[in-house]
Amino acid sequence: MQYISYFLALFLFASSMYAEESFSMIKPRAVTEQHIGAIIDQIESSGLKVVALKMVKFETALAKQFYAEHEGKPFFDALIQKMTSGPVVAMVIEGEDAVRRLRTLVGATNPEQAAPNTIRARFGKGVTENAIHASDSVASA
Ligand code: CMP
Repeated sequence: MQYISYFLALFLFASSMYAEESFSMIKPRAVTEQHIGAIIDQIESSGLKVVALKMVKFETALAKQFYAEHEGKPFFDALIQKMTSGPVVAMVIEGEDAVRRLRTLVGATNPEQAAPNTIRARFGKGVTENAIHASDSVASA
């Protein structure tokens, strides 16, 4: 019985180290401009895994709920308008330290300030249409 508890604890520890999940969304303009393949290739080439994926139309009510923390900010209405202007590609990304690694891969919010070769530097077209969203914590993912 003691051995079972030991192995269970070890398994849970190993799982928490290697299988963190993040949430990501390719934004409508990047979808329209046919960057889905290149963005997923960049994510997979980094060693992170796409473990769930769905192309969906973001309805206004859900988009407002998703971005609720930004409600009242000057860019909120434009953000909702752009995020609901066409389909998004929603993804669950898995890997060790996935949240931090994906954020690094995605780059700064403003594509003009994003490090070279990050996803936003390559495909972003402004702060609102910055190609991709990535969760900033395990909790928000
Ligand atoms: P995202 O990672 O999807 O999370 C919130 C979004 O709000 C962000 O990407 C940007 O697209 C947008 N955003 C954040 N700050 C600004 C800003 N100052 N002006 C316009 N849009 C912004």
